[in-house]
Amino acid sequence: MAKNFKDDVQSRRTFAIISHPDAGKTTLTEKLLLFGGAIRDAGTVKGKKTGKFATSDWMEIEKQRGISVTSSVMQFDYNDCRVNILDTPGHQDFSEDTYRTLTAVDSAVMIIDSAKGIEEQTLKLFKVCRMRGIPIFTFINKLDRQGKSPLELLAELEEVMGIESYPMNWPIGMGKEFLGIYDRFYKRIEQFRVDEEERFVGLNEDGEIEGDHKLKQYSLYDQTLEEIMLLNEAGNEFSRERIANGELTPVFFGSALANFGVQTFLETYLQFAPAPQARESTEGKIDPLSEDFSGFIFKIQANMNPAHRDRIAFLRVCSGKFERGMTVNIPRLGKSMKLSQSTQFMADDRNTVDEAVSGDIIGLYDPGTYQIGDTLTVGKNNFQYEKLPQFTPELFVRVSAKNVMKQKSFHKGIQQLVQEGAIQLFRTVRTDDYLLGAVGQLQFEVFEHRMRNEYNAEVLMERLGSKIVRWVENEEINENLSSSRSLLVKDRYDKKVFLFENDFALRWFQEKNPDITLYNPMDDY
Ligand code: G4P
Repeated sequence: MAKNFKDDVQSRRTFAIISHPDAGKTTLTEKLLLFGGAIRDAGTVKGKKTGKFATSDWMEIEKQRGISVTSSVMQFDYNDCRVNILDTPGHQDFSEDTYRTLTAVDSAVMIIDSAKGIEEQTLKLFKVCRMRGIPIFTFINKLDRQGKSPLELLAELEEVMGIESYPMNWPIGMGKEFLGIYDRFYKRIEQFRVDEEERFVGLNEDGEIEGDHKLKQYSLYDQTLEEIMLLNEAGNEFSRERIANGELTPVFFGSALANFGVQTFLETYLQFAPAPQARESTEGKIDPLSEDFSGFIFKIQANMNPAHRDRIAFLRVCSGKFERGMTVNIPRLGKSMKLSQSTQFMADDRNTVDEAVSGDIIGLYDPGTYQIGDTLTVGKNNFQYEKLPQFTPELFVRVSAKNVMKQKSFHKGIQQLVQEGAIQLFRTVRTDDYLLGAVGQLQFEVFEHRMRNEYNAEVLMERLGSKIVRWVENEEINENLSSSRSLLVKDRYDKKVFLFENDFALRWFQEKNPDITLYNPMDDY
C-alpha cells in the first residue's frame, strides 16, 4: 500500500448536487469544473445543447434525451482535495438512480433559486439526504435577480425542510441593487461586478468596514449590518459537528451564472465537507482507511454501446484501494471475479482507471453479473454493506407481452430487470396483472428499450398515471377492499400495497378502515 494512502483518502470530497430543474445545477457544476481545471470552456457540461458529448457510446435513449454518461461522475483536483461530483438527473430523467446516487456520496450541495425558494424535487432529494444523515451545504442562487428576502428563504428552510441553517455569508441587496456578499466566515465583503483588485474589502473586529469606503454610502450596507447583528444574536451558532451530522446547513448566497460567490463557496465547502466516512456492513463499520478494498454498486447503466450491449456498474469505493486486474468477491453470489475492465469518469472523457481509493467512483464492465446494492470485497472478507433503501414509486403502468408467443423472454426480462433494481414490480391481487412502478418516466422508457434489445421482448404498457403508494402493516387484508381508486397489489416480496388514486382516496380509505395500518417507507426519512 502506498505510504500516502491515508492522505489520498482524506483528500476525497464526494458529493452530489441536489436541486429542482432550472435552479442552476448545470451552471454551478460548470463553474466548479472550471475552477478545478477539469474543463476549459463554459458550455461543456451542457452537452444537451452544444452536442459536445455526442460520442458513439451513448445508448439510444441517452442520445434522444442527451443524457451524458460521462457527465454522471466528474472529478477534479482543487486545493489538495480530489473532488468527485455525482450527477443527479432532473426533469424527465429523474429515476430511482437519482435517489440511489445519494447513497454513494459523503455530502450534498443543495441549490435553491432565490426567487422560487424550496421546490418539489429539491425537497424529495433533501429527504433522502436527511434519512442518511448526509451533511448538506446550501447555495442560494441567482442573487443577480430579484428574489425572496434572505430571511424568508432561511425561514423556508426551517419550516419546509426542518433543517437549521447557518448563513456563511449574506447578500447586500439583490437583483439590480446587488452589491455583493458580506462574508461572515472570512470576515470580508466580496463586491459584485467590480475590478478584481477591489473585489474584497476587509472587515474590522466589529464586522464593519474600517475608514471610508463607497459601500458605506449605501443604505443597503447599513441594512446588512443590522441583519448581520440579528443573525449573530438570534441565529443559530456555527457548529462543525452539527454540520457533519446533517443537522445544520451552512448557507451561501451567490450567482452561478455571474460566477459570483462560487469560488468562496467551493473553498469553504472543501474545508467543512467530510472525507469518506466509515460505513455500516453486516460485520460492523468498515473504516475507509482499512487496507482491504471494498465497495458497493449503486447504479447500473445499460447498453451504452449498442454494438456490444455492455453495461457499466457504478461502484463507490468504500475502503482500501482499487487496482485494475484485481480479483474481488461478490458475497451475494459467493463468487469471485477479476476486474480487468474499469472506467473512471472525467468531465469530458472516460478513461481507463488503474487505481482508485475510498470515496472514488469507478465504472466496472458488467457482463450481467451485478445487481444494484451488491458489495464487492477482497480476500477472506465476506461482509455486505447495508441494503440500499427501496424508494416509493409514484408512477405506474400495466405491462404485458406484445407477442403472446414470447411470454418466456418477457418473464425472464422482467425478472432480471426487477432484480437488478431498474424498476419495481407489483401484481394485482385479484387478476395477477403486472404493474410497474417508478419514480420517474425515464425508468419505463429504459425498461421498454432494454426488454426489446436485451430480451427480445416487445412490451405493451398502459399508463396508469401517478398513484399514492402505501404499504399495509396488517398481515390479513380483505381483498374486497380493492377498487379502482384504491387498488390492492403485492410487491415482489408478496407484501400487500395499496395504490391510491389521489390524496382524497387515501384519506377516505383511512377513515373507513381505521384498523388498517398504512405506511410509506420514505416517511421514515
Ligand atoms: P439546471 O441544471 O438546474 O436545470 O439549471 P441550469 O444551470 O441549466 O440553469 C437554468 C437557467 O438558469 C439557465 O438559463 C441559466 O443560465 C440560468 N441561471 C443559472 N444560474 C443563474 C444565476 O446565477 N443568475 C441568473 N440570472 N440565471 C442563472 P436558461 O435561459 O434556461 O438557459 P441558457 O440558455 O442560459 O443556457
